[in-house]
Amino acid sequence: MTQSKVQRSLELYQKADRLIPGRTQLISRRASSFAHPISPIYTAHAKGSRFTDVDGNEYIDWVNAVTAIILGHADDAVDTAVKAQIDKGSLYSLNSPLEIELAEILVDTIPCAEMVRYTKGGGEACAVAVRIARGTTGKDKILFSGYHGWHDWYQSANFLADPETDEFPFAGIEPIGVPRVLAGTALPFTYGDLDGLEALLRENQGEVAAVMMEPMRSEPPAPGYLEAVKALSHAHDALFILDEVSSGWRLSPGGAQDWLGVTPDISTFAKSMSNGYPMGCVVGSRAAMEPAGRMFVSSSYWSEAVGLAAAMATITELNRRNSAARFKEIGEKLRTALQDAIASVGIAAAVTGVHTMPTLAIDVPDPALKKPIDTLFMQEMIKRGVFCATAFSATLAHTDADIAITATAAAESLEIVKRGLTGELDELLEAETKREPFRRLVR
Ligand SMILES: Cc1ncc(COP(=O)(O)O)c(C=O)c1O
Repeated sequence: MTQSKVQRSLELYQKADRLIPGRTQLISRRASSFAHPISPIYTAHAKGSRFTDVDGNEYIDWVNAVTAIILGHADDAVDTAVKAQIDKGSLYSLNSPLEIELAEILVDTIPCAEMVRYTKGGGEACAVAVRIARGTTGKDKILFSGYHGWHDWYQSANFLADPETDEFPFAGIEPIGVPRVLAGTALPFTYGDLDGLEALLRENQGEVAAVMMEPMRSEPPAPGYLEAVKALSHAHDALFILDEVSSGWRLSPGGAQDWLGVTPDISTFAKSMSNGYPMGCVVGSRAAMEPAGRMFVSSSYWSEAVGLAAAMATITELNRRNSAARFKEIGEKLRTALQDAIASVGIAAAVTGVHTMPTLAIDVPDPALKKPIDTLFMQEMIKRGVFCATAFSATLAHTDADIAITATAAAESLEIVKRGLTGELDELLEAETKREPFRRLVR
């Protein structure tokens, strides 16, 4: 039997099974999220648009740490700022003046930001935003659409199993360990369905602290939709919160709210704000945020200065490198290159989605074959040194050469997918069909 190209990764993953419950820290980093066992699982080092796995294979990276890397891996400007901060100490007995400097940058950059609190991650920022919304309004319930992290306030929505189908709002996630008493305090609504949201607000009249949602993922909202959600929220004395942990920074350094022209009361950011160093924030209007001064919202590491320095350097570099225009350029080039690949193969497929997340949508007549076919595409791309899912997230380090290599790999992979679609799938698919860890409720 031939040795796997990712043998060391597979050995480490076996070891992790004994040592780490669930094997990985992020569900989306489980091997089952990619083309296991063809995909690498562990990285040795990364620079720019590429990473090298623990077996020494190099890949062009279109996943970019679930979009947390925005300038490119180990960006020189950010890492120089980080190293300088390390030499000055990362955590003090007192506060760091960088807290004020970064707050001023965020207030200048993000439309809704008048006041700022920090965290070290996105889910944590969402939990803080919910605490502030509940404290500011004196109400308990949160209506939400999208993914907002692992905390109890949010995962409690999974107790609202549909009695008919017994489906959880987030298929695949059981709320094990989440207190049952929280059931009914966070209620999901369907993105795009204004009538449904209005009905939910009426049913919970006087009890809703906030309507919280991802403004968009791969597709922009229908014109006027977010404005209408904001108006409905305010009509019910609820705060309107946009979770920009995923949508923030690439469309505009001011977030999707800046790009779409809709200003929420509160917004959460994390991931790309610090190019891979732990950092998150909750920003919002003075009226929404100021009451937080009387709430217990407090943690030792939220003052940690390496993350603050990384965020300041990242935002400075995004502005200096004219990031919004560059992301448009890179995204459109990639879209065109993938469309050319599709045309050259003559397969029924399209490139959908906004330029910050071009997505390859292969036309699979039998819905049961959709995931196996997507896995086959991923398997073949990864074999050719291109690490991707079907959605591609660029960094500013991605070059025309990276796009050209990706397009060639896509054409070759789609040739194989075409054969998979015409009866050869079982012979061609070496990987296990990828598993979606959860549904996000927002496209
Ligand atoms: C919109 C959104 N909110 C919250 C989170 C959670 O962020 P983190 O994984 O940093 O806790 C994510 C992560 O995928 C996200 O996409």
